[in-house]
Amino acid sequence: MPAYRIADLFAQRAKNIAPPTYGTELTKIITVSFAYGLADPTLFPHADLAAATAAVLAEQAPTVLNYGPPATLLYEQIISRLQAQGIAGDRNSVLIGYGSGQILGLLPDVFVEPGDVVIVEGPTFLGVVTRFAQAGAKLITIPVDDLGMDVDALEVTLRNLKQQGIRPRFIYTIPTFHNPTGVTMPLFRRKKLVALAAEYGVLVVEDDAYSDLRFRGEVVPSLASLDHEGWVLYVSTFSKIIAPGVRLGWACGDPTIIERLAMFKSEGPVGPFVSHVVARYCATGKLDGHIQKLIANYQHKCDLLLDAIAREFPSDVVALRPDGGFFVWCKLPPDISAKTLLTAASEHGVTFLPGTRCYANGQGDDAIRLSFSFQPPEKIVEGITTLGSVLHQLRQ
Ligand SMILES: Cc1ncc(COP(=O)(O)O)c(C=O)c1O
Repeated sequence: MPAYRIADLFAQRAKNIAPPTYGTELTKIITVSFAYGLADPTLFPHADLAAATAAVLAEQAPTVLNYGPPATLLYEQIISRLQAQGIAGDRNSVLIGYGSGQILGLLPDVFVEPGDVVIVEGPTFLGVVTRFAQAGAKLITIPVDDLGMDVDALEVTLRNLKQQGIRPRFIYTIPTFHNPTGVTMPLFRRKKLVALAAEYGVLVVEDDAYSDLRFRGEVVPSLASLDHEGWVLYVSTFSKIIAPGVRLGWACGDPTIIERLAMFKSEGPVGPFVSHVVARYCATGKLDGHIQKLIANYQHKCDLLLDAIAREFPSDVVALRPDGGFFVWCKLPPDISAKTLLTAASEHGVTFLPGTRCYANGQGDDAIRLSFSFQPPEKIVEGITTLGSVLHQLRQ
């Protein structure tokens, strides 16, 4: 028998995929993980979802359990949420997907030929940016500072690209409670970003997964609400406000984009069953009250984490204080590497996301992302206390 190998059948892009590396072998037992942006499992609205599920099955089982379109009511719920944010949406400008991650992952199918330029933030949410790279996009990274994407640097990049005859396919940004830095772009930058998109004819993909989870500060209008020419594709999700497990997110934008994205959803529209359950839950009017509960909980845990950092970490570790979302970004002093810290911390049962997992261009060993969403309060304090003593030990 010839020595055939399955792996030789893989397309080049599948051969190129490497499993995520954290710069360390996490073989130790982890007792406190700040690594993933998991929702708080104690706060899922399971009784209300159970009631919605029972009602849907009692009244609509023959249709919702068959192939069929998603609930019209879910479109209505999403459109009214969009309108409340000043974003005009209708049935033709909204796509519902299995999580916002699915929709973001379809962007290269619609927009990217190998070698096309896509502009991303540094740091960013690599979960979707990796998909852009896999499709052959040439990624250009624009730095993120304490006010989000540096739009002046973006302007210089767009100008330079234009001089070379290059029109980027899109700009991927997370302007509110950014993943991983937690920072929020102020209005003046948002206005400039939207104006640049129109001036250079570049689509802006606004990933707005976290904006409902604001626990302090003033609401800042979304990019989509500032855009009147159709240059923003807005993307959001029920994952952070109901449950990631429902796998439902949406995009709102130019109907021609929505139509094409839908064509690449090879499994068809999202399932009638889950869409009816979530629509029924939303229609009870309980979601906004539920979000208030989430906000109080996440604020408490964020503040606990920040207080513990102030107490336990060396004073030259700089933690950014978010106004919402799931993440605190810590900038490390020059003598401490995120990868080295992760190896040492995992020996003590604590883990986090090193900054290297948040840049498409190899940067990030100078920062770490701590997610406060999942761990219970006592574990947050325990984990930060351990991490603090590891940081001090690395200095000795
Ligand atoms: C910034 C950002 N966008 C998108 C997603 C994907 O969310 P989902 O696919 O669950 O809607 C996440 C999940 O962590 C995220 O942090």
